[in-house]
Amino acid sequence: MKLHPVDMKNLRPEIFNLFQTQTPLLTAGTPGHCNPMTIGWGQLGTLWNKPVCTVYVRPERFTYQFMEENPFYSISVLPEEFKKALAFCGSKSGRDTDKIQACGLTAAFSAHGAPFFEEANLVLICRKLYVQDLDASCVCGHDAVDPFYGKMGNWHRAYTGEVVEIYAKE
Ligand SMILES: Cc1cc2nc3c(=O)[nH]c(=O)nc-3n(C[C@H](O)[C@H](O)[C@H](O)COP(=O)(O)O)c2cc1C
Repeated sequence: MKLHPVDMKNLRPEIFNLFQTQTPLLTAGTPGHCNPMTIGWGQLGTLWNKPVCTVYVRPERFTYQFMEENPFYSISVLPEEFKKALAFCGSKSGRDTDKIQACGLTAAFSAHGAPFFEEANLVLICRKLYVQDLDASCVCGHDAVDPFYGKMGNWHRAYTGEVVEIYAKE
């Protein structure tokens, strides 16, 4: 079955559980130079009257540089049989290994030129709108937040992007 574009309004509410339960691949870059990593944190919603997707990337990730350098990023939700690939892309760095080749994934490029994977059941293509580092001085719920950060910080950078294309297999 091939991926085909779908309208945002036809998506089911289950999509809002996508990050924690399906841990998609976040990918940014160009045809010759892109890198995926597994993510578990993110939100979908509405901001500035646009459908948006926010993801959180620590600066030490190899993917971070791709997120910084490119105007688009993608979220690829892979089916159950790619569990091993998701574990691999969430534990190995693209600095040391070509994760796309190692996992046997097939990179494709959206109408906006953003990389994603043919094996996905659902793909969101996002245009960066707003980028901001999470900030220790803004934390209210220390019990929930502090365990993720040591004394030195390495706080995630939040990327909020407008969802500009969606592909799904139905
Ligand atoms: C289930 C899961 C969820 C993850 N979620 C995130 C996340 O939301 N943000 C993040 O910065 N790293 C997250 N990671 C860690 C990165 O995927 C991991 O460090 C990866 O090796 C980075 O690859 P890279 O160096 O090629 O970018 C997650 C890892 C796993 C296994």
